Amino acid sequence: MSLTIQGLSHQIIDGDNHRHLLDNLSLSVAQGECVALMGESGSGKTTLLNLIAGLEPVQQGKIDVAGLALQQASDKQLSQLRKQHIGIIFQQFNLLTSLSVQDNIEFSAKLAGRYNAEHGLALAEQLGISELLNKYPATLSGGEMQRVAIARALNSRPQLLLADEPTGNLDENNSCHVVEQLVNLAKSNNTALLMVTHSVDVARSMDKIYRLQDGSLSLFTG
Ligand SMILES: Nc1ncnc2c1ncn2[C@@H]1O[C@H](COP(=O)(O)OP(=O)(O)O)[C@@H](O)[C@H]1O
Ligand SMILES: [Mg+2]
Repeated sequence: MSLTIQGLSHQIIDGDNHRHLLDNLSLSVAQGECVALMGESGSGKTTLLNLIAGLEPVQQGKIDVAGLALQQASDKQLSQLRKQHIGIIFQQFNLLTSLSVQDNIEFSAKLAGRYNAEHGLALAEQLGISELLNKYPATLSGGEMQRVAIARALNSRPQLLLADEPTGNLDENNSCHVVEQLVNLAKSNNTALLMVTHSVDVARSMDKIYRLQDGSLSLFTG
């Protein structure tokens, strides 16, 4: 398994109240498995991704990513895990504005110590962004930025790829196409994918769809 979560609970302080955002939640995602995460705004999807990425401390329960038990890990181990084994695609893509598209794509792979020029170029080719390599992020459209962010995240060949509404500001047709590409690439790289999306159409190209509600996950079969 690339990701195993057991009995995860997470409280937040909301004014004077403690709110159980996540309540005894469990989830497993195998290598190469693509999972969609849906749920209402405020249900805790981003918090769950942050916990899995080791960006927020585990309060209760167990999270295991690529063989590391996050609840026992040091800050150094967590940052090493993020560099080596986790890819993240943020809602706003977070491309590095001072670097060219090519340097953006190479960045994560170099951090992971897994830089391979041919792999980066092949990803750019597969995502249809080869002709953008010398451009800078500020000159790209939203859809182009998204594909660059996908290439960057996959180029380090992570065991687990986390994506938080990566299709948020793109139209449905475009989104479905890019997500299909993302799923195919994740599978051919044997990368597990956990993707937050609001679109049922987008979610349908994934292997499983979970809904986060009242702190736990249920398999969505609609
Ligand atoms: N560190 C925090 N402290 C207090 N409240 C938080 C914190 N992080 C998130 N929240 C609250 O938790 C809820 C879930 O947030 P979030 O995980 O961003 O949900 P989603 O991504 O599903 O929209 C929201 O009500 C948010 O305001
Ligand atoms: Mg969110």
